[in-house]
Amino acid sequence: MKILVTGGNGFIGHTLVKHLLDEGGQVKVIDIKPIKFTHKNLEFVKKSVLEDIRWDMRDCDMVYHLAAELGVVNSDKKPLNTLAVNIDGTVNIFRCALGTGVKKIVYTSSSEVYGEPREIPIKEDSQKSPVSIYGVSKLTAEMYAKGYVQEYGMDINPVRLFNVYGPGQGFEWVMPIFMQKALNGEQPLVFGDGSQVRCFTHIADVISGIETVRKKGAKGEAYNIANTDKITMKELAELIIKFSGKDIKPRIAGFGKETRQKEREIMKRVPSIEKLRALGWQPKVNIQEGIKTTYNWYKEHLGKESLFYE
Ligand SMILES: NC(=O)c1ccc[n+]([C@@H]2O[C@H](COP(=O)([O-])OP(=O)(O)OC[C@H]3O[C@@H](n4cnc5c(N)ncnc54)[C@H](O)[C@@H]3O)[C@@H](O)[C@H]2O)c1
Repeated sequence: MKILVTGGNGFIGHTLVKHLLDEGGQVKVIDIKPIKFTHKNLEFVKKSVLEDIRWDMRDCDMVYHLAAELGVVNSDKKPLNTLAVNIDGTVNIFRCALGTGVKKIVYTSSSEVYGEPREIPIKEDSQKSPVSIYGVSKLTAEMYAKGYVQEYGMDINPVRLFNVYGPGQGFEWVMPIFMQKALNGEQPLVFGDGSQVRCFTHIADVISGIETVRKKGAKGEAYNIANTDKITMKELAELIIKFSGKDIKPRIAGFGKETRQKEREIMKRVPSIEKLRALGWQPKVNIQEGIKTTYNWYKEHLGKESLFYE
């Protein structure tokens, strides 16, 4: 079986590709940036998901579609590119897969599609009201996925990932930012009053979650992939500082000029993962342990920027 991974050079894609190769799989990666290693069962195609990729799909049995413009801040800076890559690029994947041997597509969506939740825990069929361009782009692509399932009988599973973290994640994400600050003896900057609740999900649980969906996911169904351990942003900063042993405190910055506006902040994001649990999956990395090992990785590798995903 050959699996196509778009965005295979990224933080999650790279880890996924390594996992698939370790399992003995044949993998083809499409990315605009070259993948950093070689393997006898790995083929790399330097291409954008906005290009015609029907030929590249001809020998693939399934697709993991990860390529995207990422993050709330980045997508605010590059709105048109975000909409193009995340919507047109995703629809292009669906369109190109039609009439090929591709049997399943797993598309990485995001918890950002829910916006500020009306109910806790957030279930897959809870209301979607994204407050960011990134969230809107991810939700729009999900709606196209639904259309392709209904119209053409394709098997597409959107998976909604919740605050992924782990070794190598780039410095535009909160966990590595806090870790870098703590390692340098500087105060991590916490938006608002720090009471925002998140469920951070370790990369290892993300990989086992999306693999469960690939193998057992029901046709066309969306799944939350998350840990359910809750932590506030202030607690996260304090925990990282504790691991650093530095005599510093988080800087509680409020909302406003130097930080995100309150209207754009999600105050509580706690998922239900019962739907994926019913397929036999379970997150295994508890938040304390996951943060500790990730912190130790950054401590060892800070300064070796080539090891980080951009
Ligand atoms: N990291 C998270 O916390 C998180 C949370 C929710 C959802 N997701 C989703 O998971 C997926 C992977 O995220 P990640 O953290 O690995 O991101 P990443 O930025 O590390 O990787 C994205 C990859 O996509 C590639 N790419 C960008 N534009 C492309 C294009 N036009 N054509 C081909 N390749 C292109 C980039 O070069 C990069 O290698 C994304 O779809 C993202 O929306 C991530």
